[in-house]
Amino acid sequence: MTKPKNDTLLRALLRQPVEYTPVWLMRQAGRYLSEYNETRARAGDFLSLCKNPDFATEVTMQPLARFPLDAAILFSDILTIPDAMGLGLYFSEGEGPRFKHPLREEQEIRALKIPDPGSDLRYVMDAVTQIRKTLDNQVPLIGFSGSPFTLACYMVEGRGSSDFRHIKTMLYQRPELLHHILDINAQAVTAYLNAQIEAGAQAVMIFDTWGGALSHAAYPEFSLGYMQRILAGLKREHDGVRIPSVVFTKGGGLWLEKIADIGCDAVGLDWTVDIGEARRRVGDKVALQGNLDPFILFAEPETITVEVGKILASFGSGNGHVFNLGHGISQFTPPESAAALVEAVHTLSRPYHQA
Ligand code: CP3
Repeated sequence: MTKPKNDTLLRALLRQPVEYTPVWLMRQAGRYLSEYNETRARAGDFLSLCKNPDFATEVTMQPLARFPLDAAILFSDILTIPDAMGLGLYFSEGEGPRFKHPLREEQEIRALKIPDPGSDLRYVMDAVTQIRKTLDNQVPLIGFSGSPFTLACYMVEGRGSSDFRHIKTMLYQRPELLHHILDINAQAVTAYLNAQIEAGAQAVMIFDTWGGALSHAAYPEFSLGYMQRILAGLKREHDGVRIPSVVFTKGGGLWLEKIADIGCDAVGLDWTVDIGEARRRVGDKVALQGNLDPFILFAEPETITVEVGKILASFGSGNGHVFNLGHGISQFTPPESAAALVEAVHTLSRPYHQA
């Protein structure tokens, strides 16, 4: 199988030597780009973008046409799985994701079915195939999924939440019911990521956006353990090439040693963590991905350059750093700021990679 011409990201995720620190941005395709908003208007709405492989390919490529990024990420959403389970995903303008049928009743929970990625989520696999063709091996394509717990948050709450009242009530009142949902989700995510790998995803990332809402005692039992099960069931190689995996628990800074221990190749960091300290804590077990505060992109280019330099210096010399934001890029970000960020990472990182 042909390696991408630029395989810096794959090497960095596997802690192999690179010439400079690779960079990509969470939510790099999105509303901060005018061309994205134009394509979305043509498609009608966000879900139609995701469900049409031509549109999904077009918007995946948009940030790469603007900035010399070191990876593409599949344009889709983590909520495709619960949608395929029949929960009825929709987006109401300005209010984020909603489900028509949130999971609250035991009967519905016991009836949950694992979607078949080859049929129920076929449009995602078709998008992966088409994006790979269009990329023509320029840079690697990252596939992704939500973590079982983060998916369950949306499934049980029926929408985004600030206190996670419903899912936490279930966790403390009916833990066996939540475990049933998480078990189904873990099987669904494993099949989904493996199907993305077979379709051509060259690295995979698990977004555990809400794991950080759990208590110290609950996190291993209700989030981390299920991600470990997914990793144990993942295809680690496709066509003789290794497929690196990244686990990102937002708010997981206190638990880095534990996260580094579940069998992933890299750990994503949010902006609350000092990346140099994180590196000392996890040692040479995993690569690290992160972790600029996305709101630094609202400052002047000079400030962006200085802040990028601080993160590179904190990580220091040697292998195993993929530069990214600590969470998704804001829709209000000036695109020139993303350009300044990518340029700063590429130029300032070279001295840290000289043998
Ligand atoms: O990184 C990329 O460019 C790939 C695309 C991507 C999207 N969502 C597109 C998207 C990825 C990797 C995601 C993951 C995702 N989706 C997560 C985990 C990462 C994170 O941000 O924590 C979560 C929690 C979701 C669920 C979700 N989807 C929410 C909460 C929202 C609303 C967000 C908002 O800013 O309004 C979405 C919608 C969504 N997903 C958009 C995009 C580009 C905006 C949709 C639009 O065009 O209106």
